[in-house]
Amino acid sequence: MAKKKPQKAKQAKAKTAAKKSARKVLKFTAPKKANGNGKSNNLPKPSSKPYGQDGKALTGVRILDFTHVQSGPTCTQLLAWFGADVIKVERPGVGDITRGQLRDVPGADSLYFTMLNHNKRSITIDSKHPQGMRVLNALIKTCDVLVENFAPGALDRMGLTWDYIHKLNPRMIVASVKGFGPGPYEDCKVYENVAQCAGGSASTTGFREGPPLVTGAQIGDSGTGLHLALGIVSALYQRIRSGRGQKVLCAMQDGVLNLARVKLRDQQRIAKGPLTEYSQYGEGVPFGKAVPRAGNDSGGGQPGWILKCKGWESDPDAYTYFITQAPAWGAICDVIGKPEWKTDPDYATPKARLPKLKAIFATIEQWTMTKTKFEVMDICNAVDIPVGPILSMKEIAEDESLRKTGTVVEVDHPTRGKYLSVGNPIKLSDSISEVKRSPLLGEHTDEILTDVLGFKANEVAEIKNSGALSAPKKEEKAA
Ligand code: COA
Repeated sequence: MAKKKPQKAKQAKAKTAAKKSARKVLKFTAPKKANGNGKSNNLPKPSSKPYGQDGKALTGVRILDFTHVQSGPTCTQLLAWFGADVIKVERPGVGDITRGQLRDVPGADSLYFTMLNHNKRSITIDSKHPQGMRVLNALIKTCDVLVENFAPGALDRMGLTWDYIHKLNPRMIVASVKGFGPGPYEDCKVYENVAQCAGGSASTTGFREGPPLVTGAQIGDSGTGLHLALGIVSALYQRIRSGRGQKVLCAMQDGVLNLARVKLRDQQRIAKGPLTEYSQYGEGVPFGKAVPRAGNDSGGGQPGWILKCKGWESDPDAYTYFITQAPAWGAICDVIGKPEWKTDPDYATPKARLPKLKAIFATIEQWTMTKTKFEVMDICNAVDIPVGPILSMKEIAEDESLRKTGTVVEVDHPTRGKYLSVGNPIKLSDSISEVKRSPLLGEHTDEILTDVLGFKANEVAEIKNSGALSAPKKEEKAA
């Protein structure tokens, strides 16, 4: 009897906590009509708390995070940085496959995983087990958004169709990353580089003489995750008015194409004449029917190129990007020691320079090669010439200013120790992001079952004993 009391007290505490957190989630109210000034008249009074101390942008939003690998986790990590309670559901015993991919510390979660799953909680659930589904049902009822990036059809095969979810929780937003949108390729599994190729990035990246090139920036995975996060926040905002959830879909092909939209712009321009800002125009090389690869040409109307700097013979990153922006032309001529080009009709106007860009950049390079990339930056910026040093990842990792802004952060982890990560690149003045380490596999299973879902001790025991939350035993696996 004596033992039962604390148990009861614990259950009551858990119930209150569950109720409290449920209340938090339901806090959103429908906005009243805008008043005559076009201003919403139901906003609360401006907070009197100091900036950064009145909760976070997404406080009270709870995410059922069914994501894995990179695209989905990028999205839910952002939401977590903005204050959402992100509950990552992982397969018992295995977890997100990236936990074990590209491991640099034996037995510890990989950097691949840790750098994409900050500020989340982890629960292990076998979604194909009836008791696992019981837990998922409870999560669906209490969460605001389900985010997933399984292969097409996988969520439905788990039984979690839109109709099923929406019946359990009509306010639930179901957000998905898929490789392709509806159409001939909708059933395909897709990874980063496939999306870069299908979204028009690879065909327009690289040098004209070479093959298509993928870029190191993960525009297919992380880029689509970013798009999805915006879709989710918009759907949450609409839900304040409509009271109901909706589906949010971001196809990786679409996300890449959105980032490559200037190339679709050029595709339409090419039908009307040559793309004069592409250096191939100056070189007299005719254009074909599709937008060509443009090497390091500047994407906008200002010619630019990558030029060698002092030390390039031994340092692969001793280069600068140099833009010959028209208003800066006079300054460029002075800096590189060609003041006569300012008035020479063969050089004085952007039009006159176009056919000679290659030779002009070669002359500028003669000057940049006498300076380090940082000296070029200092000299040129002082006179408003747009340039940028090619920074290596080593230089970025060591950059003090990026550390100060929290864009590069050092995080401590119980099994791998200290590591560097990229913090939240989106800075909100009243919702400051702290980067908290990624969860261990299933680290928060108990607290989610009790504190979030309010399961009683006997129910937790029943669920756990069923095997729905743990890895199958070796004999079972073998069988
Ligand atoms: N409990 C039980 N089963 C689970 C589970 C859990 N907690 N979590 C996942 N699974 C199952 C799924 O139900 C699925 O089973 P099924 O195919 O028998 O129905 C299985 O795990 C594998 O899921 P899937 O998404 O197909 O993984 P994959 O490793 O074969 O494919 C991708 C990986 C990334 C190619 C694929 O998920 C995909 O195309 N996703 C969409 C696009 C995308 O995001 N790509 C970029 C990734 S960075």
